[in-house]
Amino acid sequence: MVPPEVRARAEELRREIHLHNHRYHVLDQPLIGDSQYDGLLRELQQIESEHPELITPDSPSLRVGGQPSEKFRKVRHPSPILSLSNAYTADEVGAWFDRLHRLDERLEKADFVVEPKIDGLTVVLHYGEGVFELGATRGDGEVGEDITPNLRTVRSLPLRIPVDPKEGPAPRRLVVRGEAVILRADFEAMNHRLSEAGGRTYVNPRNTASGALRQLDPRLTAARPITLLCYAIVESADPIPGRQTEVLAHLSKLGFPVARETVPAPNLKSAIEAAEKLKGARETLAYEADGAVIKVNDLRLAADLGVVGKDPRAAIAYKFPSQEATTRLSDIGVNVGRTGVITPYAILEPIEVGGVTVRQATLHNFDYIADKDIRVGDTVTIKRAGEVIPYVIGPVLDVRPRGNRRFRPPEVCPSCGEKLVRLPEEVAVYCVNAACPAQLVRNLEHFAARGAMDIEGLGIRVSEELVSARKVSDVADLYRLEVRDVLGLEGFAERKAANLIAAIEASKSRPLSRLIHSLGIHGVGEAVAGDLTRHFSDLEALQKAPREALLEIEGIGPNLAEAIWDWFRQPRNRTILRKLRKAGVWPRAESAPKGRPTLRGLSFVLTGTLPSLTRDEAKALIERHGGKTVGSVSQKTDFVVVGESPGSKLEDAGKLGVPTLDDAGLRRLAEGKGG
Ligand code: IVH
Repeated sequence: MVPPEVRARAEELRREIHLHNHRYHVLDQPLIGDSQYDGLLRELQQIESEHPELITPDSPSLRVGGQPSEKFRKVRHPSPILSLSNAYTADEVGAWFDRLHRLDERLEKADFVVEPKIDGLTVVLHYGEGVFELGATRGDGEVGEDITPNLRTVRSLPLRIPVDPKEGPAPRRLVVRGEAVILRADFEAMNHRLSEAGGRTYVNPRNTASGALRQLDPRLTAARPITLLCYAIVESADPIPGRQTEVLAHLSKLGFPVARETVPAPNLKSAIEAAEKLKGARETLAYEADGAVIKVNDLRLAADLGVVGKDPRAAIAYKFPSQEATTRLSDIGVNVGRTGVITPYAILEPIEVGGVTVRQATLHNFDYIADKDIRVGDTVTIKRAGEVIPYVIGPVLDVRPRGNRRFRPPEVCPSCGEKLVRLPEEVAVYCVNAACPAQLVRNLEHFAARGAMDIEGLGIRVSEELVSARKVSDVADLYRLEVRDVLGLEGFAERKAANLIAAIEASKSRPLSRLIHSLGIHGVGEAVAGDLTRHFSDLEALQKAPREALLEIEGIGPNLAEAIWDWFRQPRNRTILRKLRKAGVWPRAESAPKGRPTLRGLSFVLTGTLPSLTRDEAKALIERHGGKTVGSVSQKTDFVVVGESPGSKLEDAGKLGVPTLDDAGLRRLAEGKGG
């Protein structure tokens, strides 16, 4: 028998965890920190491991992913999961409306809702007495596949509704429809992490989300940053609102994530305008959308209008122009990255996609080229989506010219001629020559970049010049340069040369965290550099640190600790450190704030000119207290710090409901006195 107080505690923990989950993943307004959250979850897991009979189907402990299954069970949907008919122009939308109008006069006075058409995987979620019981794919619209254990790992999916018990009693039975997606920012961050680790990167968010949800092992699903956006009630045992706008509000109240970009429209004209506005804002959306859905708002009227084939008459997808195009692959180039990773890229016959001319596209890695059998001279399909780098989808085989040969990956580094190596279990191919000029160019570029030592005027071009003229053989050599060394370089007259030397000199005063970041240690970005600064007073202390000391730092795991430790053991790097010290580039940590960092886990976006801090100082302040700054506002942003003449980021904050601060507010927050 489970003691009643243990049972009650498990119940209480589940409720609390659900609430915090919702605050964090759906509302983006966490109430507690990560470690407190982990504490609650661990306590629940502890109770459940002692009393497995207490595990309920809605237990948040199941989010980590249960046992793999053999095969997906088929599920018949309670009613058909319909599709949508498409329109490509405003005229076609007008024609759709005229057809409806002829069928039913009530259209005269009808109003509409315009929603983004979210490009994800359709999911159908069943709740009984408020508990998430079953989740299925769309399948053929009649029968889908049961992917319940996988969906349980999606953090923004409510396992119990209403998430906030104050919103009333649980609905008896409710079936909700939504799209599972990966947000663009999460996708980019995931790929960045994977490629840093030499792993395989993913091609696009939609396929990654869809692939991850179809894994037989839910732990693999749990490892991907999948989220959810809901937009319809498929079935309900209780009365539901009569209008689509109210349905969305109702879903949101129950705790389901819904797209914030939905617009009510009093008539068709304003619906078309709203859809076109959404098209214009397409690239700023946090997720991929391939159109706007215009829906008759009155659901009674919508039901009366009926269905043609698999498409309800009362809604239409006004599709955005395609972001795919075909063009000829003129050549395959290869890049040498800072860490020696060799990556192929496509050199294309220039082609316009969505108003932008594309000349190059990513080919991911050599395995990708082989898997898709992409050959030079092929006509290839490319896709451009938002800020994501355009990529090659694959060749158009029907028009492949005779004689196109299979692509053979290079065997030696295109820069230094060293034989390339492939590490076991990695897809990446590396040049391991520490003196490879191409790597040195990238290292210099990284060293001098904005978030690093911020040396104005030292970009990739100048780095290339310096390396090919043999003026530098490592980053520390920058501090030996004199005006006369630079004068001979292309494009450098007296003034420009003097400016560059002055900029290099000025970089000597950058804080320690910047210097650590600029060294380009595998896996050490701005955030980790900031963490290290809080534990080591200068580079010497860090160099002497044993692996165990590194491992004790929150957020540094064994691989990273090893990479850092190893970097400081390389003779070449030790020489760099000696040279830096001699040149006076040896910052000491600013007195690290005591206790738990006040901004730990918080993400900030800066916009406008702050009266009392430069941008770099604001960044340093945030990093010193454990926070991070990012370039653009997303649902994950905690605060936007606003100065004078702010940019569009302020508007983004408003749209996404992200709270704003001024510089004084930032200081108060950093000092632990609240915003
Ligand atoms: S409504 C009766 N609304 O687009 C309901 N669908 O190409 C019909 N989709 O299969 C669908 N965002 O999976 C609707 N806001 C949205 C949507 C949306 C994405 C998907 C849906 C559908 C597909 C049609």
